[in-house]
Amino acid sequence: MERRFLTLGIESSCDDTAVSILDGQRDVKADLISSQIKDHAPFGGVVPEFASRKHLEAILPLVDRALENAGVSDPAQELSLIGVTAGPGLMGSLLVGVMTAKALAQTWHLPILGVNHLEGHLFANVVASPDLEPPFICLIVSGGHTEIILAEDFGNYSLLGATRDDAAGEAYDKVAKLLGLGYPGGPIIDSLAHKGNSEAFSFPVPLRSSDEIAFSFSGLKTAVLWAVKDLKEKSVDLPIADLCASFQKAAVEALMTKVERAVEVTGIRKVAISGGVAANRGLRNALQRKKDWNVFIPPAIRCTDNGVMIAAAAYNGYKRGLISDLFLTPNPSWPLV
Ligand SMILES: Nc1ncnc2c1ncn2[C@@H]1O[C@H](COP(=O)(O)OP(=O)(O)OP(=O)(O)O)[C@@H](O)[C@H]1O
Ligand SMILES: [Mg+2]
Repeated sequence: MERRFLTLGIESSCDDTAVSILDGQRDVKADLISSQIKDHAPFGGVVPEFASRKHLEAILPLVDRALENAGVSDPAQELSLIGVTAGPGLMGSLLVGVMTAKALAQTWHLPILGVNHLEGHLFANVVASPDLEPPFICLIVSGGHTEIILAEDFGNYSLLGATRDDAAGEAYDKVAKLLGLGYPGGPIIDSLAHKGNSEAFSFPVPLRSSDEIAFSFSGLKTAVLWAVKDLKEKSVDLPIADLCASFQKAAVEALMTKVERAVEVTGIRKVAISGGVAANRGLRNALQRKKDWNVFIPPAIRCTDNGVMIAAAAYNGYKRGLISDLFLTPNPSWPLV
């Protein structure tokens, strides 16, 4: 039987503890996520100190279950590599994952590789699409980031443009909060948007007429705030679904306009998306309508944080010759480029 190359992937950069085991580049043997959404929901956002404690409780039982799911009884013999998110993210949360990974690497005498969380998001596409070969453009659009990356090769990235203020996911979460919709706001707004009229409000599409590849979501968020204030002053019931649909239309258009510009500037029509907001139905539909592009969209479950994408990025990096050691330290602001 061909020998397996099993990578244990650990992700704990924000509020999801995730552990996966991947054989080679894309054969998923175990994929577990312990979500803290319910714990943070009463606070309307992630409470960093609380997140670290929850990671600490969840992580070792998840590793045990992942080994069991993958049929691994002797990790020291059967695993080949440990990949762990080392940044960007919340320092306390990252520390739990990195310290766990280092302890396991030392115990089992395994190589360890610290992975950039954003490269992890990009690798969700590699797992989903065996035919995705560089060069390609990737829109990374998540809770903390909104950027367009040119992947000239795996491990060789350049930044085509990024947000000047809020990330798209952050804008979704803040708009949901001001509409009283709960946390995280992205999926809630997404599903309400499909019941509303996207023409009901005319919200500005940030930077639409600029040639620059850049994003800005703070003005759009403020436009929603003013519309809500205005309706409240008139004592009108908030047309929530219409507000969501109109906001989503502007947000998706803001993202699509700049991806179109990136395709124009680079001449590369291979376009991938990743990160939590890549689960958005409006954005996925808009991309799928681009018949003259070669579009790559991971399954929604692999768009938000998961361990499979970290294991996949670690495997690829290790095969390219990258390796960390037990001095690996998390970097909360580690840029991809
Ligand atoms: N269907 C959706 N539509 C829009 N936004 C969504 C959807 N699903 C999730 N999101 C948003 O995605 C974000 C979470 O994504 P992800 O888990 O990748 O972010 P993060 O890990 O917190 O941030 P980062 O990856 O930048 O460190 C949240 O802001 C959430 O509201
Ligand atoms: Mg993320």
